[in-house]
Amino acid sequence: MTIQAFESPPSTGARTPKSNPMIPVNEPLLNEQDMAYVAECVRTGWVSSAGRFIDEFERGWAAYCGRRYGITVSNGTTALQLAISCLGFKPGDEVIMPTFTIISCALAVIYNGGVPVVVDCDPRTWCMDVTEIERKITPRTRAIMPVHIYGHPVDMDPVMDLAEKHGLAIIEDAAEVHGAEYLSGRNTNHSAWRRCGSFGTLSCFSFYANKLITTGEGGMVLTDDAILAEKGRSLRNLCFQPNRRFYHEELGFNFRLTNLQAALGLAQVERMDEIVSRKRWIGKEYTRRLKGIKGLQIPVEESWARNVYWMYGVVLSEESGMDAPAFALRLKQRGIETRPFFLGLHEQPVFHQKGLFLGERHPVAEHIARQGLYLPSGLALTPEQISQVCQGVHEVLT
Ligand SMILES: Cc1ncc(COP(=O)(O)O)c(C=O)c1O
Repeated sequence: MTIQAFESPPSTGARTPKSNPMIPVNEPLLNEQDMAYVAECVRTGWVSSAGRFIDEFERGWAAYCGRRYGITVSNGTTALQLAISCLGFKPGDEVIMPTFTIISCALAVIYNGGVPVVVDCDPRTWCMDVTEIERKITPRTRAIMPVHIYGHPVDMDPVMDLAEKHGLAIIEDAAEVHGAEYLSGRNTNHSAWRRCGSFGTLSCFSFYANKLITTGEGGMVLTDDAILAEKGRSLRNLCFQPNRRFYHEELGFNFRLTNLQAALGLAQVERMDEIVSRKRWIGKEYTRRLKGIKGLQIPVEESWARNVYWMYGVVLSEESGMDAPAFALRLKQRGIETRPFFLGLHEQPVFHQKGLFLGERHPVAEHIARQGLYLPSGLALTPEQISQVCQGVHEVLT
């Protein structure tokens, strides 16, 4: 079933303490079932990285995304690091990624001895500009890392075609798009909706508290490749030998998730349709109330995409006479918390110090980094809070 079938308004209220006068940018929505699963871990003593929930969460999430194997890890950053480690990089191997993303994407490559290479983003979806990728391919390129941004999928068909043509791996970063869908093969007779996370040689997720599914901190790598899955499991757990513990032939990591965290994750996988439905309702409600404000760009949903509006981003045009920090301040004065957009990787001082991206310009990412922010978007947001936020936006901009 596709996600459109489940759109409905939120049915339960936020739990923000009355003492908090701000509408928070994110508030998770957890329930009795979450508590029951976590309590089971505490009651039975299975609180560390073994136990039934690890296995069930891995299987449940992999199945939801249409993949064969899931490998839970400690967070989304370590998911990316593990995925790249599975590919066995040589020093200087390159990965093409968007500049408009979190630093984790570049760190994962650098920690594996590789080099991040960046492209600008699409001005409508804010995802990587797929038309720029081919120009960046060199003999050192090993992988492309599409990063789905703020709930909207990357245009994956061109990425898949390029990867196939040039023999590259795909490390798909689906941290922000749990449950989002992409119409693959739209120019063929075999088009089909596919979930984000189903495209990568290895696909990565974060389950941080602001994600659609949260385990507090947590992450997962998905793949259909049995060899990569086995390698990932071994690397995640210090590369212990299965038949001889404390004997190591490779350098591994401790990236393990706990059974407690997996319990929380599994309970949410079981109500994923409801979670996606709620997020889409929040996104569409914002769009209904904010569309048409002069100088305000709001999220799109391309015809080939089903957006889950992980965070409802907005970008001010210069004609608004305001940049994002000024807008954020005016909203804060009205009790509305926001977050700035990413600053592009190519603008990060830490990378300049390492000689990366020197002199590079990516105008779309530079524009949205200065003019963009996201509004309160958590699952616990109520219709009343959405009204308040939209009223605040109208007051500031009109
Ligand atoms: C696109 C993307 N990738 C990776 C991560 C890293 O995830 P984590 O914070 O769990 O390490 C995030 C975090 O929000 C993200 O937005």
